[in-house]
Amino acid sequence: MSDPRAHARVLARDAIARGDVTGWFETLYAESERDGFRISWVDLGPNPHLVEWLRSRPAPPSGKALVVGCGYGDDAELLAAAGLDVTAFDIAPTAIARCHARFPDSTVGYEVADVLSPPPGWSRAFDFIFEAYTVQVLPGEARTACAQSIGGLVAPGGALLVVARSRRPEDPEGLMPWPLTRADLAAFAVPGVDLARLDEIVEPGDPPVPRFVAEFVRRR
Ligand SMILES: C[S@@+](CC[C@H](N)C(=O)[O-])C[C@H]1O[C@@H](n2cnc3c(N)ncnc32)[C@H](O)[C@@H]1O
Repeated sequence: MSDPRAHARVLARDAIARGDVTGWFETLYAESERDGFRISWVDLGPNPHLVEWLRSRPAPPSGKALVVGCGYGDDAELLAAAGLDVTAFDIAPTAIARCHARFPDSTVGYEVADVLSPPPGWSRAFDFIFEAYTVQVLPGEARTACAQSIGGLVAPGGALLVVARSRRPEDPEGLMPWPLTRADLAAFAVPGVDLARLDEIVEPGDPPVPRFVAEFVRRR
C-alpha cells in the first residue's frame, strides 16, 4: 500500500456515496490484516495527550472509563494500567479481535459497538471518556450525532477528553480526516456538559497539524 491515507479516503468516499458512513472501517481493518499494510492512524502507542492528562492528575484516577473508537487498544490499556475500570469499543470487529489478540490478559472490556447507537446502559455511565479522532472521520450529520452521543455518556461529575484535528470556520473543509471547527466541538456540550478547558495547539509536521485538546465535564 503506497499511501495508506489515500486508500482510506477512497474507501470512505465510496461508502459515504452508498449512504453508509461507517461501513468502510471494518473493510479497512480487514484488508490491513489480510494484506499487511499499515493503517494511517495506527501507531501502536498511547495518545500523548492522554499520557499528559493522566500525568497531570493530582491523584490517581478511579472509576469507570470509556475509550471511543479504540482501534488497537493502546489508550484503553494505558487507562487500565492507571487503575481505571475500562470499557473500550470500536465499530470494526477486526479491530476488537486484534485488541484481544494483542492483550490476552487485559482487564479492559473490549466491545464491538456503534457510538451512533450506544448500548442504553452506557447513558451517563462513565467517569472518564477518551475520544481521539473518531468524530473527524465521520461526515456531516454523523459527526454532530457522534459528538452528542459521546457527551451523553459522561456520568455526573465525570470528564471527557477530546483530541481532534482543528480548523477555523473560514478554512476549507479539506479531505478525510475532516478537521473540527469550534462549532463541531460544541456538539459534545449536551445539556449538563460544559467545556472546561480548550487547548488549541499546532503539532509540528509537514504540514503542521492544528489540533483541539478539549476537556468537558458534566456538572449534573
Ligand atoms: C481515526 S481512527 C482513531 C482510532 C483511535 N482512537 C486512535 O486514536 O488511534 C477512528 C476509529 O473509530 C472507529 N469508528 C468509526 N466510527 C465509529 C462508530 N460509529 N462507532 C464506534 N467506532 C467507530 C473506527 O473503526 C476507527 O477505529
